[in-house]
Amino acid sequence: MKYRICALLILVCLLSSCSLPWQSAAPVTPTPTAQPFTGVVAPLPTLAPPTTLREAAQRRGILIGSAVGVSQLRSDPMYGTTLAQEFDEVTPENAMKFDALEPNPGEYTFADGDAIVAFARAHGMVVRGHNLVWYRSLPPWLANGSFSRTQLMAILKDHIMTVVSHYRGKLIAWDVVNEAIADGTDTLRNSIWMQDIGPDYIDWAFRWAHQADPQVHLFYNDYGGDGLGAKSNAIYNLVKGLVQRGVPIYGVGLQMHVSITDPPSEQDVIANMQRLAALGLKVQITEMDVEIQGDPRPLAEKLQAQAQVYHDMMAACLAVSACEAFVMWGFTDRYSWIPAATGHADEPLIYDQNYHPKPAFHALMSALASQS
Ligand code: XIL
Repeated sequence: MKYRICALLILVCLLSSCSLPWQSAAPVTPTPTAQPFTGVVAPLPTLAPPTTLREAAQRRGILIGSAVGVSQLRSDPMYGTTLAQEFDEVTPENAMKFDALEPNPGEYTFADGDAIVAFARAHGMVVRGHNLVWYRSLPPWLANGSFSRTQLMAILKDHIMTVVSHYRGKLIAWDVVNEAIADGTDTLRNSIWMQDIGPDYIDWAFRWAHQADPQVHLFYNDYGGDGLGAKSNAIYNLVKGLVQRGVPIYGVGLQMHVSITDPPSEQDVIANMQRLAALGLKVQITEMDVEIQGDPRPLAEKLQAQAQVYHDMMAACLAVSACEAFVMWGFTDRYSWIPAATGHADEPLIYDQNYHPKPAFHALMSALASQS
């Protein structure tokens, strides 16, 4: 009993900071008094400069992202480590395309897409879904089938409703319609959707996606319309029509697959983004890479020119408040799609094959650091 009272006394004293016999009295700290103003202001503590793209982009209020391939994510540890360290957004490069998700009619395979979502969640990253309606990456049963309008409408509706519902609450965006405008024209591309449904397949796709997940942001995504010109005019007119008809489009993805030989100008990209923003839409750069093939200059100069293009497009995004994200189509030259797609060697991304940051990486850091 005696010990209990003693222990209780010690506890109370410790909590109320009273003095016990073996403690010396705490030194009395003088209460600070107001000092007369001397005219010298202590400098504000400065933030250490960011060391990753992710941190640098976060400070500027935009997302920085990359396309991600599931096979490299599974097989190459350096790939996932760099991705999670430098980026806060991922877009599945192929895992959420029609052929990947519905290889047979009504049979859905979500494993690869789910793996990317799980990776992103584990590393505090967000995911853009890519894509619901495209003229490419169609499974053979669809590409080679022959369907009535009613049948194709039902197939598309089922695909969109199933896929968007599956990922409801897990993605920040969907590229609903991808590359619908024909090259060199202002008309719609002659896809199976266009042939068998007609131009209103676009409106339907957005409406079904919105029905399946009213929260996720819905994008029209295309290439070759990043700056000003015929294609970007066609994209502008298409999305303007969607807005006017009350179709639930949230934004436009500017893919930004460009080259050092003919990059869009920063001013044109800003002007294009601003006119889209004036329609009430957001914009994101969604698939940037910068080819260096076909240019006679020495490699070091080409890499500098490439860095300048990355810098300028980042500066354009930062200059327009509607630009929410800067996403590249991969980050290491080890896995770029460009050599296979063009049939020529290339180095279009911001890390080399061995994960060393290239001049383009530093150019992005510098654009993100600049306040102009
Ligand atoms: C590409 C992938 O990178 C390749 O692996 C695939 O073989 C073909 O598609 N525009 C898009 C992307 O919207 O989906 C494309 O991705 C690149 C062009």
